[in-house]
Amino acid sequence: MAKIIGGLGTSHIPAIGGAIHKGLQQDPYWKPFFDGFPPIHEWLKAQKPDVMVIFYNDHGLNFFLDKMPTFAVGAAPQYVNSDEGWGIPSLEPLKGEVDLSWQIINHLVDKEFDVTTCQELLVDHACSLPLKLFYPEGNYPVTVVPVCINTVQFPLPKAHRVYAFGRAVGEAVAAWDSSKKVAFIASGGLSHQLEGTRAGFINKDFDLNFMESLLTNPEWATQFSIHELVEKTGTQGIELLAWLAMRAALAAGEGAGVRKVHSNYHIPISNTATGLLALEKF
Ligand code: DHB
Ligand code: FE
Repeated sequence: MAKIIGGLGTSHIPAIGGAIHKGLQQDPYWKPFFDGFPPIHEWLKAQKPDVMVIFYNDHGLNFFLDKMPTFAVGAAPQYVNSDEGWGIPSLEPLKGEVDLSWQIINHLVDKEFDVTTCQELLVDHACSLPLKLFYPEGNYPVTVVPVCINTVQFPLPKAHRVYAFGRAVGEAVAAWDSSKKVAFIASGGLSHQLEGTRAGFINKDFDLNFMESLLTNPEWATQFSIHELVEKTGTQGIELLAWLAMRAALAAGEGAGVRKVHSNYHIPISNTATGLLALEKF
């Protein structure tokens, strides 16, 4: 059976890609953000995952407001980045892990999560940037399964439902007949709001409590309704649902515990409170 090694959460912002492209990692504005990553690079070099299952949200690239699946799973041999142009000019396509995609899709439907299956899927910064941050030298040594959660257009799935969904994805991976090592990625958050009268809204207290809860009380955030979460974290802060799915996925399979490998929190990059967290399963 496949081995689940851990999970990584990171914020995604197109401007990060622009900073990578311009080599601004040591610039005073960017340094506190990029300085979070070397311990993650070390952990990945030691752990050597083969596959990454990426919980993320599409931003109107592959799904626009007229067609918005609540949950969608990629099942393609590769995923081409086609971002809106504010970030890194070109990113290499991500290689798919089609067998695991269908393992996840079949398990989810069996567990009554009726997902949209995507045998073609364009991906944006939310799916592509985390890999660039985790493997800055390129030539990614992993294949991927993109798992998209609607955080963009109401109605959004409840936090409680997202937790159950993530758990089911984890069960599917744990039951995958493969000797490969799998890690989960959560892409999005933490608190931010890009538009309206609350543009620029950030809630450090909530973000830090949320990050801590993933270690000490993983279902803590499921007590809140979607509207409460939007109020606490901003209209785009609700992307933290991906982190909840990632944490729930780690609850599946052998071993009950997770330990923190590393975390970082920095305000702001663009309009966003950036979080970074690596959890190892034991
Ligand atoms: C920003 C944040 C996001 O989550 C995103 O998808 C796009 C932009 C920002 O803070 O600029
Ligand atoms: Fe986003």
